[in-house]
Amino acid sequence: MPLVRPAEPVDLPAISALDARLTGEAKAAYWQSMLERYAGGPPDRHFLVAESERGALAGFIVGEVRAWEFGQPAAGWVFAIQVDPRLRLKGTGSALFETLVGRFKAQGVTRVRTLVDRRDNLILSFFRAQGMVAGPSLQLDMELA
Ligand SMILES: CC(C)(COP(=O)(O)OP(=O)(O)OC[C@H]1O[C@@H](n2cnc3c(N)ncnc32)[C@H](O)[C@@H]1OP(=O)(O)O)[C@@H](O)C(=O)NCCC(=O)NCCS
Repeated sequence: MPLVRPAEPVDLPAISALDARLTGEAKAAYWQSMLERYAGGPPDRHFLVAESERGALAGFIVGEVRAWEFGQPAAGWVFAIQVDPRLRLKGTGSALFETLVGRFKAQGVTRVRTLVDRRDNLILSFFRAQGMVAGPSLQLDMELA
């Protein structure tokens, strides 16, 4: 099992580089802002990283407990999860998810939620393997001209 720990400001270059490799888009300012808001901040916000055996960044996960948005009682929301492609299928994603869920439970919430692209079979398979199924909400969408 990889070491999972809270993210720190020093993790920014590795997080930003992993995301840029996976998405093809560099967004250092976005990840800096996410770290400022979610790492070491209020106890309902979580930004966790997994370390490889060599101490390099293996992956990260970001989540938050949110209550009464869309009329829903408190739930833990997973906003982002990414694992280095060279280190996948070794339990890193699961370790990140389980650690985050453990923190949500410690805060007293009994549900975890996320939003996925329904065409993304990889992320759907991953969350299904964690025990997640389709939830009660339906996302609505409209382009603003
Ligand atoms: C999804 C992701 C986080 C999984 O990380 P990982 O470290 O490989 O996950 P795990 O090794 O813990 O896999 C757990 C389970 O998920 C499922 N799974 C993971 N990768 C899979 C794949 N490529 N195909 C099918 N199922 C898969 C399997 O059931 C797996 O269990 P198993 O190995 O016993 O079969 C990683 O593939 C990733 O970073 N993907 C791209 C990022 C992304 O699209 N993020 C979404 C936007 S936030």
